[in-house]
Amino acid sequence: MLKKDLILIKEGLTEFYIHNIDQEAVPSKSMNVFYNKRMEINRDISILAINAYNELYHQKNLIIIDSMAASGISSIRMINECKNIKKIFINDINPEAVKLIKKNIKLNNLEKIPIQIEISQKDANLLFSEIATNKGKHSSETEKKPNVISIDPFGTPNLYTDSAFKALQNINGLMCITATDTAVLFGVRPNVCFRKYLAKPLYTEYSKEIGGRILLYFISRIANINKMGIIPLLTFYSGHFIRVFCLTFKNKKQISKSFENFGYIIHCKNCGYRSSINNSILKIPKECPGCRNRENLDYAGPLWIGRIHEINFINKMLKLNEISKINYKKRIEKLLTFAIEENNKPLSYFNLHKLSQILKLTSVPKIKNVINIIKQKGYQASRTHFDLLSIKSDLDISLLKKILIDTQK
Ligand SMILES: C[S@@+](CC[C@H](N)C(=O)[O-])C[C@H]1O[C@@H](n2cnc3c(N)ncnc32)[C@H](O)[C@@H]1O
Repeated sequence: MLKKDLILIKEGLTEFYIHNIDQEAVPSKSMNVFYNKRMEINRDISILAINAYNELYHQKNLIIIDSMAASGISSIRMINECKNIKKIFINDINPEAVKLIKKNIKLNNLEKIPIQIEISQKDANLLFSEIATNKGKHSSETEKKPNVISIDPFGTPNLYTDSAFKALQNINGLMCITATDTAVLFGVRPNVCFRKYLAKPLYTEYSKEIGGRILLYFISRIANINKMGIIPLLTFYSGHFIRVFCLTFKNKKQISKSFENFGYIIHCKNCGYRSSINNSILKIPKECPGCRNRENLDYAGPLWIGRIHEINFINKMLKLNEISKINYKKRIEKLLTFAIEENNKPLSYFNLHKLSQILKLTSVPKIKNVINIIKQKGYQASRTHFDLLSIKSDLDISLLKKILIDTQK
């Protein structure tokens, strides 16, 4: 391909080429080489997460696998913006993508830097399995498994998770996984979710959180069968994807203890009651604890009911964000702050617009005011990064409805 068929664009401080014909295309599989400007925030957050991981878990000499690199923008930004990288595998199955990655490496003058860059055109599972077994070209790397693996597929990451865990460092490895099949995880296609993620989703006002928790549960179970457990560091929803950053551990007792994070959410479609249930499906009640209705009680799960973020980790990301030069700085600060606030709150959230509609209110009360009123009444309340029109609280939905009605008086 000639240079005139390429167009130069910029993300953060990094310039790179994409194909001219892809510039106006709707981001999809049919692009010559995939690029989605809307995923810039995903790459920004990944860079902050890798730098936070580096500082908090004292990882020197990072070995990173960017298993589905497309134009290579994420890898090149990592090289430019992350510290302590020793080696990076930049891989994509698409031959056009690999040609473009090579051009972008050259454009950024990265051919002769001390970081080892290994570009390949393989199925991600093959690459992971070669690295896990130290086969093929990677036999010189016998000393250490990769510390960081990024999986960023079209749709579900379910097919790659097992071999990725086999390749990753089993203590303090950082697994970064994106899922873009949000309709599946959010309950629009429940059977597909059950097939792909082994869990029943639920289409509700807080489906995004349920979807994130199903993804975490799935990743955790695949880690478990590889004799590892996971600690979720950040579980992040934006636009049309969920990205999970989690840390590995291999202590068997700790793995058994982490099963406490598995459970179910029950939800009444009649009155909106919701709560979580630890571990056993037998604990799901037959009637709604709120309105005693027996017909409309539904559930989601199994899913992750424990904490979905580590506060220390997010605080470190916030500090790094403050001094960074990334474009989405303000938006990331807001989302990470909401992630901290939501972390110790009950599962699920209440969408004020939807509730106001149901209650036929003439106007939607200000979210800040409602949070203050709930707190004054002695309950917990916060925003949530999953939905900027919603609040998390431990108060009962009937009481919340009363508060909303009272704001109109
Ligand atoms: C959503 S894009 C990745 C975007 C990229 N990470 C970025 O930040 O721009 C998915 C990429 O995965 C590649 N891909 C699809 N299946 C693959 C497989 N089995 N192994 C390796 N790469 C694959 C596609 O060619 C595509 O470039």
